[in-house]
Amino acid sequence: MDKRPIGVFDSGVGGLTAVRELIRLLPNENVVYLGDTARVPYGTKSRETIEKYAKQDAEFLLSQNVKIIIAACGTVSAVAPHIGKTLPVPYITVLEPTVTEAARATKNGHIGVIATAATIKSGSYERLLSETNPKLKIFSQACPLFVPLVEEGLTDTDNPVTKNAVEMYLKNIKEQDVDTVILGCTHYPLLSEAISQYLDGTVLINSGGAAAAQCVKLLIEKDMLNTEAKPVYKYFITDSIDGFSKFAKRFLPQSEFDVKQIIL
Ligand code: DGL
Repeated sequence: MDKRPIGVFDSGVGGLTAVRELIRLLPNENVVYLGDTARVPYGTKSRETIEKYAKQDAEFLLSQNVKIIIAACGTVSAVAPHIGKTLPVPYITVLEPTVTEAARATKNGHIGVIATAATIKSGSYERLLSETNPKLKIFSQACPLFVPLVEEGLTDTDNPVTKNAVEMYLKNIKEQDVDTVILGCTHYPLLSEAISQYLDGTVLINSGGAAAAQCVKLLIEKDMLNTEAKPVYKYFITDSIDGFSKFAKRFLPQSEFDVKQIIL
C-alpha cells in the first residue's frame, strides 16, 4: 500500500477529465492536480518550450510527494514522451493507453485522430497506431480552437461558435468513414457531446480516461494502491483561481474545491 497522492498535470483544465475517471475508478486515492492555466495552450508552442514546461509541472508534483505522475496532456505526451525517464516515480502519458484502446475499438480500421497542432505535427499518435497495427488507416486533424473553447466554457452543443468549429475541423474526418476517433487532447472530452452529435455513431476514445485506467493497472501491479484513505483532492493552478470551482463543479463529483494559485 502507498498512501501518497497520485499527481496529474495538464496545461489547463483538460486534465480534469483524467481526474474524473481516477475518482470513479479509485475512490480511495488522494489526488494532486496541477493545471498550468497561466501558460495554456501548450499546443501552439515549440517542442523546447513544451518540454521545459512539462518538466516544471512534473517537478512541482514531485514536491507534493506524489507516488506516480500522469501527464494528462496529449501535447506533452506526444511531444516530450521521454521526460518520464528522468523521474524518480512511475510516469504515465496518455499516448500508449489511448492507442491501445482505439486499436481495440475499431471495426473497419479507419481511425481519426484529433488533437492540438503540436500533437498532430509530432506524428506520435500515427506512428504508434501504425506500429500497433500496420493495416490501420489513420486520418489526423489539428483542432487549435477546441482548447480555447473549453477553457472559455463554450462546450454547449447549441452554441453556434462551438457547432461551427466542430463542423469545420471534423468535416474531412467524417468523409473518411472512420468508426473510431481518438480525442488526443484531454480538453476534447468536454466537447464530446458536440463531437458525437456531428460524427453520429462514431466511438470516441477519451485519452484522459485511458490514462486513468492505465494508472489503475500500474498501481495494482506495483502494489501501490491506497486502500485506506478518506481521499483528499488538491488543485493547483498557475493563473487566478476565479472561476475554477464553477468550471470543475460541472463535471467533477465535488461541490467544494481546495484550489490554490502557485508560481512555477
Ligand atoms: N489538454 C492539453 C492536451 O491534451 C491541451 C494542450 C494545450 O494546452 O494546447 O493536449
